[in-house]
Amino acid sequence: MKTILITGGAGFIGSHVVRRFVNKYPDYLIVNLDTLTYAGNLENLKDIDTLPNYQFVKGDINESVLMNTLFEKYQFDGVLHLAAESHVDRSISDPMSFIMTNIVGTVNLLNAAREIWKDKTEGKRFYHISTDEVYGSLGETGFFLETTSYDPKSPYSASKASSDHLVRAYHNTYNLPVVITNCSNNYGPNQFPEKLIPLAIHNISHNKPIPIYGKGENIRDWLYVEDHAAAIDLVFHAGKNGETYNIGGHNEWTNIALIRQLCQTLDKKLGRAPGTSEGLITYVKDRAGHDLRYAIDATKIQQELGWKPSLQFEEGIEKTVDWYLANPGWLANVASGAYEKYYEKQYTSR
Ligand code: NAD
Ligand code: TYD
Repeated sequence: MKTILITGGAGFIGSHVVRRFVNKYPDYLIVNLDTLTYAGNLENLKDIDTLPNYQFVKGDINESVLMNTLFEKYQFDGVLHLAAESHVDRSISDPMSFIMTNIVGTVNLLNAAREIWKDKTEGKRFYHISTDEVYGSLGETGFFLETTSYDPKSPYSASKASSDHLVRAYHNTYNLPVVITNCSNNYGPNQFPEKLIPLAIHNISHNKPIPIYGKGENIRDWLYVEDHAAAIDLVFHAGKNGETYNIGGHNEWTNIALIRQLCQTLDKKLGRAPGTSEGLITYVKDRAGHDLRYAIDATKIQQELGWKPSLQFEEGIEKTVDWYLANPGWLANVASGAYEKYYEKQYTSR
């Protein structure tokens, strides 16, 4: 029996990782630690939350004493650290919460792990889940490699870059057994509708304008969230101590081409005449410091660990749209109250 801590397990990616680990590893006790910010939602886990190898703890990684107490109590064998502030636009309007959770919170976890593991690190693992945004912005060609120099450009990516450096520093200085992955943009069920794809699905379904920043020419490399969860599972179990692996879909889309694809899919699903939803596309003021292009070279994880994405984008988009249409209550629930205020501030006043 192993006891594994997953932080941020009520969020988008974290909930897919928790579900996968709880179902696949009945001999692990999975402890999901989440403070339930606007992005955390226990609804995401209602299918597994009564299973005997799952426990939820509501707690803030910024509270160092609480982290030490939890590590002491559970004697975790492994940590999968996903808790973070994750939205670039929010980091532009409120950087401090990103500094606290993404940097200070990560250090609190590193300290707590170091304290209980001391020199007995055999079989232990601190896995830090990070983003390709730490590498900055690409021009029209090239890919991010694990050896690419860090060049973060937004408060979000700078805070994640900082946490990556600290994780590596704890490995180098204290021999903490760590592994890091840097993944490209995820999409799929349960993503909060502040991010492009669920925001567009929500707006198209409600016949609301789809806001496209700038000219819509920015490029992202999209990966279906369950493919990311599968990569996380693999790296957690088979990744080499101290290593970094890039994870990506080799699936680059300009924002405008992606939105057109979504519009076509939704026109079909909603029984609208072809081209109807494209009429909702609205170009709005660009994001400050908007990174032009992200693209991952995932050769290392593919060659060393045998991971590759399982889904084609069209298939992933179809599954994603089907999920949101089948779960209007989930979207309506998270898109009310505080989200409406956020949306108003972010888009209406631009
Ligand atoms: P998310 O915003 O959907 O979820 C974050 C979760 O962390 C939420 O459940 C939230 O309640 C929790 N949390 C936030 N602050 C906390 C705190 N102080 N203490 C405890 N819990 C806290 O994020 P996501 O999109 O699922 O991303 C998860 C991780 O993966 C993040 O570290 C992010 O940087 C990384 N990542 C995300 C993407 C992406 O495309 N979404 C891509 C690559 C890497
Ligand atoms: P997002 O989903 O916020 O992810 P990230 O900024 O971390 O890559 O945005 C994806 C792309 O979509 C990015 O280039 C910004 C753009 N975008 C829009 O054009 N309009 C929007 O309303 C949002 C949220 C994003």
